[in-house]
Amino acid sequence: MTSVDNTGTQRFVTCGELGAQDAGQRVAVRGWVNATRDHGGLIFIDVRDRYGVTQAVFDPRTSAREAYESAAHLRSEDVIMAAGTVRPRPAGTENANLSTGAIEVAADALTVLNKSKTPPFPLHGDADVDEALRMKYRYIDLRRAPMQRNIELRHRALKAARDYLDAQGFLEIETPMLIKSTPEGARDFLVPSRLHAGEFYALPQSPQLFKQLLMVAGFHRYFQMARCFRDEDSRADRQPEFSQIDIEMTFPTQDDVIAVIEGTLAHMFERALGTHVKTPFVRLRYDEALADYGSDKPDLRFAMKLSDFSPAFAGTEFKIFANELAKGHAIVGLVDASGAGRSRREFDTLVQTAAAEWGAKGLAWIAFASDGVKSSLPKAALTEAALTQVRAIGGAGEGDAVFFAADERAAAQAIAGKLRLHLGSERGLRDPARFEFCWVLDFPLFERDPESGALGPMHHPFTAPAPGQDLLTGDPLALRAQHYDVVLNGSELGSGSIRIHDPNVQRKVFELLGYSDEQVQQRFGFLLEAFAYGAPPHGGMALGIDRIIAIMVGAESIREVIAFPKNQRFQDLMIDAPSAVEPQSLRELRLRVDQPAQPSQPNQSRSQS
Ligand code: AMO
Repeated sequence: MTSVDNTGTQRFVTCGELGAQDAGQRVAVRGWVNATRDHGGLIFIDVRDRYGVTQAVFDPRTSAREAYESAAHLRSEDVIMAAGTVRPRPAGTENANLSTGAIEVAADALTVLNKSKTPPFPLHGDADVDEALRMKYRYIDLRRAPMQRNIELRHRALKAARDYLDAQGFLEIETPMLIKSTPEGARDFLVPSRLHAGEFYALPQSPQLFKQLLMVAGFHRYFQMARCFRDEDSRADRQPEFSQIDIEMTFPTQDDVIAVIEGTLAHMFERALGTHVKTPFVRLRYDEALADYGSDKPDLRFAMKLSDFSPAFAGTEFKIFANELAKGHAIVGLVDASGAGRSRREFDTLVQTAAAEWGAKGLAWIAFASDGVKSSLPKAALTEAALTQVRAIGGAGEGDAVFFAADERAAAQAIAGKLRLHLGSERGLRDPARFEFCWVLDFPLFERDPESGALGPMHHPFTAPAPGQDLLTGDPLALRAQHYDVVLNGSELGSGSIRIHDPNVQRKVFELLGYSDEQVQQRFGFLLEAFAYGAPPHGGMALGIDRIIAIMVGAESIREVIAFPKNQRFQDLMIDAPSAVEPQSLRELRLRVDQPAQPSQPNQSRSQS
């Protein structure tokens, strides 16, 4: 593999750097064969690397014979080194789409560094490749230009965050991966201990307790690009292992944390995307976000606010609405501007979607069409007074339609919120190139699990209640928290809170959550002990890195911005994980498996769901 000249005059260059100014220079490019063309005896080889594509031309009259013949046999994705002299492309053949499009390398030497089998899918163009195949051959998938861009942008954005936080005095400190469970609301991944048979570590769902302990330890400002592990149900924006920019500060107010996060995000967008992000971000109260947008992660790229139409139907003779209102429920809805022109079938489809996908008991509509009012509601509901009020409450006029969900207030808001997003998408109002950030503040401290009825923390049990509230008396569900979420385009980017640092308050919160003294001691004894040794007031936040980058690049799934993600069934199809282990390993761990694994067939039974 020494067929290029070794005179020392040849310069190794990347495939993205040559331009007209380099004409006449002797260079060697190394990379993958992106494309080959044979034009009347001249062989054109596009050589690709991370930086770009450079055209090498082999000419039977000037290239060494061996090199020319070898070039004629090159296939896509072979790895080569081509050496020759840079020259301007003949007039009219320049390629303005390529950074190197003004030149070509008149190649006289070629070394094939490695051959490639035919790739399992094309690397160029928009062909819709099966995701399971992309995952299995991820190293090839990652060669594709959009993936290279995503991964590089991720690097730039994280570097920007590191630089910003470093400049603000934050120290990057690593915390352990083999720990005792930290409750963040998901199941833990467990790791059996060989030395302590029958005992398990948990992988951290986040570094929550360690970062709090770092504040007790006097580090003042901490951050970490932290790996987190959660055995939760998979979704487009969730992975079982994901990354956070995790921060914690001593003596902060909520506004201090908010300012650091806004600064970090603005810096990331500026440096990685060249996009100026306006700060401070809009702030919404939790209640307000639910009332106006039906979600605690509102998409503010468009207005279309929800309204409470209950007053319009107070005293209605329409039984369903009357019953809901009698139960103290609400009729929440929104105006679909110019929606009156929808066909009956279009209305029916929306109603079906609401029932099938959003869990709506029903979705009613009124269309104020130019030829009269049409509606899914019976006459009893459509009194003149009701119609007038509906128009007034929603600000609806002729040509508009209004949709209504009647249910418990929270459920009705959630359904109307989903309809709002649906209509926003339908009308092209959710432009991926626009970034609308907001804060959601004043969350409740606790929520009730809809199934078990048990009280649970809205964020996590270490979140401080808002000041001036009495934890001992009254309704725990009425307590507010010093908890804040940052939201971008309808996606929760991050969550944080001012923490409890007083061991007595922390004990009280554990008690309200139903933990026995023994459970508290066993699970959180170390934290309460630490709080007894001069724990300073502290607070922080974690930003989901994968989600931020996915939104930056306009990707539908966070899998597009993670080099080696798991599929929707939490499998790595490339390395075939998870997989069964040797019986010997189980014996060492003193574990017996109840249900032996079936031999795995990664591409059939284990494909994407
Ligand atoms: P939280 O659990 O809200 O807070 O997580 C913070 C952010 O992490 C991202 N995220 C995820 N991203 C991908 N896949 C997942 N499975 C996943 N789960 C969460 C989200 C989310 O907003 N310890 C607290 C933070 C704190 O209080 O400082 C915590 O982890 O973007």
